[in-house]
Amino acid sequence: MAVGGVVDLVAMGEDFVRDPYPVYAALRERGPVHRVRIPEGAEAWLVVGYEAGRAVLADPRLSKQWKNASPSFPISSPSAGPHMLNSDPPDHERLRKLVVREFTPRRVEQLAPRVREITDRLLDAMTGIEEGRTDLVEALSFPLPISVICELLGVPMLDQDAFRAWTATVLTDPDPKARLAATGEVTAYLTRLLEDKRLTPGPDLMSALIRTTDEDGDRLSADELLGTAWLLLVAGHETTVNLISNGVLALLTHPDQLAVLREDMTLIDNAVEEMLRYDGPVETPTFRFTTAPVEIGDTVVPGGGEMVLVALADADRDPARFPDPGRFDVRRPAGGHVAFGHGIHYCLGAPLARLEARIAVRALLERCPGLALDAHPAALTWRHGMLIRGPHRLPVRW
Ligand code: HEM
Repeated sequence: MAVGGVVDLVAMGEDFVRDPYPVYAALRERGPVHRVRIPEGAEAWLVVGYEAGRAVLADPRLSKQWKNASPSFPISSPSAGPHMLNSDPPDHERLRKLVVREFTPRRVEQLAPRVREITDRLLDAMTGIEEGRTDLVEALSFPLPISVICELLGVPMLDQDAFRAWTATVLTDPDPKARLAATGEVTAYLTRLLEDKRLTPGPDLMSALIRTTDEDGDRLSADELLGTAWLLLVAGHETTVNLISNGVLALLTHPDQLAVLREDMTLIDNAVEEMLRYDGPVETPTFRFTTAPVEIGDTVVPGGGEMVLVALADADRDPARFPDPGRFDVRRPAGGHVAFGHGIHYCLGAPLARLEARIAVRALLERCPGLALDAHPAALTWRHGMLIRGPHRLPVRW
């Protein structure tokens, strides 16, 4: 598995894409940090295990700014502009503060009736299919989060398909040229959209951000506004799609757990936490760069912009933190998982993601009492790249 001390994750091919957990667990047995080759073609330091992962996510010596990447690092930033997730303090705090009030659990709870309405509309269409079978990604997992985030931000429905194709390319296409071209398209699109909103503001978050001023009279610059809109749109749908798909897949492949949940739907909140822990949508979150040497276990990762990745997927399957971690158990006390990250970059959208998943999974189970997987689990194909984990399609019947 390791050549010259470098573990080649790419050479492991589809097996690793389909089921990376055993590979991470084997690495964890050997230590908390490993030199790896990643699908983008670069080498990076991969951190496995719960304690080491959390420590790295909260370590201020690891920067999120691409300008701190080693000059020899072959990948460029995928973003349309500066935003909280590619910033360090003090900019990080400023950029997050301007948006965070829109995403507090209380604020998000007000969206529940609308999320239910969209879910019902999608499930009406789905259950209206005479054949009684469909791809759940197309029918529910994808359209729900993208409709919610686009409505929240004020992106017209008409443009959602184009947006889907661009963001999928930006996040998971191994070809750097394709990623760059798609980033250019998103940037041009958002620039036009923000221009329109400047002239004709609406009741949406993007219009609010344009005129936003915090108590100190702070504002987002034009570049920051573009970056923030980009981040919210991408983070707001690419992830929740896969929480719904991976979560439903876990239920359908664990009929005993599905029965427990069907028997007592008040378990839904806990079940969603277990879905996040067991097979969360973010396998390894965004890159971090060393600004000083960082000791992880017995290894010192040098300073000077070395790239560090944290395997959240492994942290949440670490037996030192979660007993019998490979068991999917909707009654398990699943709190403390790191599916939403940890530290100052902890997911801003966690309340929204939870709300959508709870409503979607519950409504799906209630409307489709005979819901079952319509393919062999081994026949599912999975999204490439190490950032996002989820199946391309999830065939179901009811
Ligand atoms: C199940 C769904 C979701 C998962 C698993 C998830 C996961 C994550 C993770 C792991 C991070 C930290 C990244 C890092 O440290 O490198 C993060 C950050 C972030 N997420 Fe989410 N996310 C989800 C949904 C959402 C939604 C719906 C939104 C937007 C409305 C959102 C907005 C953000 C933002 C803005 C950040 C950056 C926070 C910061 O830098 O301070 N996420 N998310």
